[in-house]
Amino acid sequence: MTSRIRLGVNIDHVATVRNARGGARPDPVRAALLAIEAGADGITAHLREDRRHIRDADMARLKDTITKPLNFEMAATPEMLAIATRIRPHACCLVPEKREERTTEGGLDVIGGHNHLVPFVAALRAAGIRVSLFIEPDAAPIDAAAALGADIVELHTGSWCHAVEAGEGEKAEAEFRRLAAGARHAAASGLEVHAGHGLDFETAERLAGVPEFVEFNIGHFLVGEAIFVGLGGSIRAMRLAMDRGRGS
Ligand code: PXP
Repeated sequence: MTSRIRLGVNIDHVATVRNARGGARPDPVRAALLAIEAGADGITAHLREDRRHIRDADMARLKDTITKPLNFEMAATPEMLAIATRIRPHACCLVPEKREERTTEGGLDVIGGHNHLVPFVAALRAAGIRVSLFIEPDAAPIDAAAALGADIVELHTGSWCHAVEAGEGEKAEAEFRRLAAGARHAAASGLEVHAGHGLDFETAERLAGVPEFVEFNIGHFLVGEAIFVGLGGSIRAMRLAMDRGRGS
């Protein structure tokens, strides 16, 4: 297994720290440039409806400034579609969004939400933007994502990472098997397979051993670790962990 797995660095929480005080520092675009220098293969940012971290101007500056692909995470709303088709990122990852949640909880309802999602997927693809759907790692949502014409599925690693962190060994193993089976099913369906949510050095290293994964998107842990070792150090260590896991 030699193909190198891509690391997308999510810089939302640099903006969270900035917004805690208002003002302009720390600048998420500066963090994105540093992340790329440290080995990130792309930058991910989530423009939430409530603008709690990334703001519209950050997204526009990211698109204008960074030299690696921009992955724009967004809810499937007309407002976000208008912004995305104006900014034209490399990819859009459609995620569920509830105002009251602390972070994205659970995958997108691609089965019940099929009719709602059809025009969003079509409009983004027509604008030349790759479409990723953030879903639970089960066959039914994967099949539904393929039926919608998505290019990519990002499998939600939150349940697994939570079980690992809580020391729930059996549940963690079951969740890992669910992710590995989901990745195989998605790849066999012709989808590019990404993963994200809650990954740290240990979980990213282990999951990188599943060959169907092409990209991980990681944010909160890397920004937190940066407090201790700097953002460059945290990203370089993640790169090494993923390479070890992949054997590349
Ligand atoms: N991928 C998606 C689709 C997400 O919504 C998030 C969280 O914003 C991430 C990856 C990154 O998760 P974390 O910040 O926990 O690494």
